[in-house]
Amino acid sequence: MTYDFDTPVDRRGTASIKWDFSRRYTGIDGLLPLWVADMDFPACSEVVEALKRRAEHGVFGYTLEPESCYQAVIDWMKRRHGWEIRRGWMLSAPGVVPSLNLALQAYSQAGERVIIQPPVYYPFRESIINNGRQVAENPLRLDGQRYTMDFDQLERLIDDQTRALILCSPHNPVARVWSREELERLVEICLRHGIVILSDEIHHDLVFPGHHHLPTASLSAEAASITVTFTSATKTFNLAGLGCSLAIASDEELRNRFSASLKRIWSDAANAFSAAATEAAYRHGESWLEQVLEYVQGNYRFLAAVLSERLPEARLFPLEGTYLAWVDLRALGYTDEQLNRRIRERARVWLDDGPMFGTGGAGFQRINLACPRSTLERALEAMVRALR
Ligand SMILES: Cc1ncc(COP(=O)(O)O)c(C=O)c1O
Repeated sequence: MTYDFDTPVDRRGTASIKWDFSRRYTGIDGLLPLWVADMDFPACSEVVEALKRRAEHGVFGYTLEPESCYQAVIDWMKRRHGWEIRRGWMLSAPGVVPSLNLALQAYSQAGERVIIQPPVYYPFRESIINNGRQVAENPLRLDGQRYTMDFDQLERLIDDQTRALILCSPHNPVARVWSREELERLVEICLRHGIVILSDEIHHDLVFPGHHHLPTASLSAEAASITVTFTSATKTFNLAGLGCSLAIASDEELRNRFSASLKRIWSDAANAFSAAATEAAYRHGESWLEQVLEYVQGNYRFLAAVLSERLPEARLFPLEGTYLAWVDLRALGYTDEQLNRRIRERARVWLDDGPMFGTGGAGFQRINLACPRSTLERALEAMVRALR
């Protein structure tokens, strides 16, 4: 490993949401944070150099992504995901969550229904509600050790007011990487019912051996005709503070509708820093990413070993993708409030608690594994003691 992920970088004092705002979010100061999905690792050196070069220029006027940046995305998608996309399919937007909000406005009307599959990344639900649409829930099924999509329930859920489905692929927080069969079945149902798939693939590069991310739109021409893909280099390369994303749609009508949504908010300029960082990351960041994935797998193995030895009641789910471990603590017999109090007030650790992710989240916790092993060790030591 050429990168050093072991040495902690002190992020306090950088206005980091994860490290500097625990009082604002939890009412408690100084918690050890393993919650929000960013990494405690420095970005790869080529990204840092690209940002320095951009900063040194000193003029930060209105910017668009250069064509070379789009080409870097096209090359990356082909190389890493076998997905051949074209420049004309891509629209740049401020972030994946803002884009999903624009997409809700583009593909549905107030009062219409949009499907989510909880437990799932919580802004999905809030975005639907905030836009005056109705949330239609198709909770994931938990069969033994594995979460799956419930297709029969999905068929029953869809009615003539249902317009879109927000897919989380890979799925945060249950860490599933959906298989070809699962995605094909989902596409077949959505196609039959005229449902647009808003495919949030921001975790697409964070996938572990034995699993393979398939872009929904790459499955078939039919899949592409109903799918808008939302992606960004920010999750893969730890650039969340640079705020940028891409919406990709090969279908002209879907693309035009999204583009009209973007125009309504006059979002037509890029962030000068994110364009530079995205291009550098996609061109030069592959080896850094491979090493991050290896390190996160090591953290997952460490977590699994600690839990099985010291907190055997905890059930850990396989980490197929994302760097977010999903842990079932229901066997400990605590209410969610008791769990939260023990973890935050006694252990002084800050995780994302399961109920945030909606139906199926009660009694679970999500642990961010993208941190130095010593940080994870410290958090687990405190948590095990507080939960025993
Ligand atoms: C599934 C998913 N989508 C979107 C985001 C955030 O995207 P953005 O920062 O581009 O709005 C996250 C961040 O954790 C995520 O997990």
